[in-house]
Amino acid sequence: MPWLTACADDLEVLHWWTSAGEQKALSELQIRMNDKNLEWQDFAIIGGGGSEAINVLKSRIISGNPPTAAQIKGTTIKKWSKLNLIADVDQVARDNDWDNLLPDTLKSSLQFNGKYVAAPLNIHRINWMWVNPEPFSDINQPIPQTWQQLIDVAPLLQKKGYQPLALGSEDWQYSTLFEDVLLGTQGADFYRKALVDLDDQALSSQKMVAVFNVLAQIRKILPAVSTDGKWDTATRQLMAGKAAIQFSGDWAKGEMDFYGSKPGVDILCLPAPQNSDAYIYTVDTMVMFPSTTLRQKQIQVKFAQTLMDADFQVAFNQKKGSIPIRQDISPEAFDQCAQASMAAFKNSAEKATLLPSMVHSMAVDERVQRSFFEVLDYFFKHLDIDAEQATKQLATAVKASH
Ligand code: BGC
Repeated sequence: MPWLTACADDLEVLHWWTSAGEQKALSELQIRMNDKNLEWQDFAIIGGGGSEAINVLKSRIISGNPPTAAQIKGTTIKKWSKLNLIADVDQVARDNDWDNLLPDTLKSSLQFNGKYVAAPLNIHRINWMWVNPEPFSDINQPIPQTWQQLIDVAPLLQKKGYQPLALGSEDWQYSTLFEDVLLGTQGADFYRKALVDLDDQALSSQKMVAVFNVLAQIRKILPAVSTDGKWDTATRQLMAGKAAIQFSGDWAKGEMDFYGSKPGVDILCLPAPQNSDAYIYTVDTMVMFPSTTLRQKQIQVKFAQTLMDADFQVAFNQKKGSIPIRQDISPEAFDQCAQASMAAFKNSAEKATLLPSMVHSMAVDERVQRSFFEVLDYFFKHLDIDAEQATKQLATAVKASH
């Protein structure tokens, strides 16, 4: 499948939506494209967060054989635009009034030199805490609202055989805990300084040491490194009541939906501890590659139009767990967690506490992101690295990477 050049009527799309919930959401797109007589060629690369997908895509581009479109997002969009690797979708955007449909705060991340270069599908909130309430009723304890409460309640859960946290053992999943703890304990301004501006003083500050001190305690209550390491396996452990909490973007809700677990009822959706005033986001986008034929160009136009179509955005996001990026869609068709996400997004936009996710490629480029991932992965897997050492390693690695 992946290595064939797209034929005239083929739409070859690279993505990393390979879990059950992600695939179900994606089928909404495949059905719509097939209805337009376009043959969907699936170019799926396993690996949540997408690092593996980007590597495979790069080799296709280098060999001069890109797919029709790919799930590329965040800072990579501008970087690849600068290198002339991607085709703009500006005409589709103008013809379909994207300027008036998209949130002001997110538009510029989709543009390069004043033109739209990426077609967006959704907004995912990252700083969620998904809670199975049963383990907490079983031990007769309230759901933690602070990181300290989480650390304190963990041994009680463990004593009754529950895993306090469901977490896969991939670097980006550990790094999600870092983002949540950093925002919760140090606030939105510090988040921006450290994870967006890469301010050296912030990265090597005592505040960062304090973040690692909390993480060092959480590190002790994590599950053992899992064999498949996947986030969706962790979500299933949460649904099964084996684990009490998962910190994850709301693609976990897509998974719950797939398996018939009711978000907001069977599994509760709460902001991560001390995170309620800010919203860490990522936006899923598709970029198109320069096409050699007029027919391929027309296919790309249809594809970009569909991604921003109102009915599609409802159907896709209901299954994906995210919220539509179009601002004219009524919350009514969505579950209570998505409605809470929509309200929190608006509220954070007003308070200027909408924060781009470092882990999900919205804040920094891939090299810098990798240096965060490496230090954090090592820290979580080695109990002997203390907070001071980790802070030094992080500041040094980040500085060297940009
Ligand atoms: C993407 C989501 C995806 C998740 C896990 C994130 O980076 O934005 O669409 O579901 O990774 O694969």
